[in-house]
Amino acid sequence: MIASVVTHEDRLSVTWDDASTCDYHYTWLRDNCTCPECRHPDAWERLYDTAAMPPNPAPTSVATNGDLQLTWPDGHLTTMSPAWLRENEYGPQGRRARAPQPVLWDASIADNPPEITFEEIDSGAEGMLRWLALIRDYGFSLIREVPIEPDAVLALAERISFVQDTNFGHTFHVISKPDPENLAYTSHKLNAHSDIPNRHSSVNLQFLHCLEFDAEGGESLLVDGFAVAQRFAKTHPAAYELLTEVELPWRFQDVTTDIANHAPVLDVDGDGRLRQVRYHTALMAPLDVDPELVGPVYDAIRAFGQALRDPAVEFAFKMAPGDCQVFDNVRVLHGRAEFNPASGARRLQGCYLDRDDFLGKLRALERRGADFRLR
Ligand code: OGA
Ligand code: ZN
Ligand code: ZN
Repeated sequence: MIASVVTHEDRLSVTWDDASTCDYHYTWLRDNCTCPECRHPDAWERLYDTAAMPPNPAPTSVATNGDLQLTWPDGHLTTMSPAWLRENEYGPQGRRARAPQPVLWDASIADNPPEITFEEIDSGAEGMLRWLALIRDYGFSLIREVPIEPDAVLALAERISFVQDTNFGHTFHVISKPDPENLAYTSHKLNAHSDIPNRHSSVNLQFLHCLEFDAEGGESLLVDGFAVAQRFAKTHPAAYELLTEVELPWRFQDVTTDIANHAPVLDVDGDGRLRQVRYHTALMAPLDVDPELVGPVYDAIRAFGQALRDPAVEFAFKMAPGDCQVFDNVRVLHGRAEFNPASGARRLQGCYLDRDDFLGKLRALERRGADFRLR
């Protein structure tokens, strides 16, 4: 409930019935008018022409009748509900409340990993929502008792959204094979890494579904890149800074393709919050940074790589047929122990899915039943 409104030169301050106060600029209020003339009532996209807004609009009258009511100099009336205003408040508190709140973890997550059965996911919106929230909060989840059938991973992923094709295909099979096109298709140990850092449009959610596993070795490994990076910022502040600033060359090549980009190991947003961790030295192209930085950059890459290999941060587990892991490749790094292909088969089927589609599905499920126009 709105308790009172005070107007200032370029904004107004709303005091709520809990005595907290939020400021809203007139430009912002005019631009965000939710009337059918300013927002298409069905498409819910803005019809109001922001670029044609007069500079420094100020309402000629401000009233409250439960809602906030503003009249503009041209006679246009804007009505905003308290719920909408609070939902969209952009002071420090509102911005913080809307920011992602990852639950950081280390090796001790083995005691209680974020897992769920296929049946629960399949049982309806509640199960789906719990699953997607686990991935959002922990950056991964383990799904148990997935049907042990080729393409079951696709059916699982497609419950969220359409999958993302890459140069490795619509889905891919991780097996040790002759003439492998990447290191995953060998029996080598893979240290904790991010997949495909060589693409500007990074792959995000990665599914790996175990179809066969009789081989010795080959245990899986997950590491919370955000947790490691946050600690690294404190233990190695200069190296952390460098890894956020320097764009490293990444490149994947095989007979038919050659995909390359430059991007930093640590991607942070305008508020200094981590957005992405990219680390896969197997795909680092010959370094082409400022020659003065070659030494410090190598030192930083080494130090961060060691931090990722600390057993205290590794969640190690062995998959069995029917298990599926899904992780957010922009946050959680993955790897595996070496395995012995002579001792038995090991086959994982995987696919990728864009995190925008995953988060979009999650938000839509969270507000199900509620009118999206209020958000
Ligand atoms: C991969 C990968 C891990 C594994 O396919 O990208 O890293 O357990 N596989 O084989
Ligand atoms: Zn309007
Ligand atoms: Zn990988």
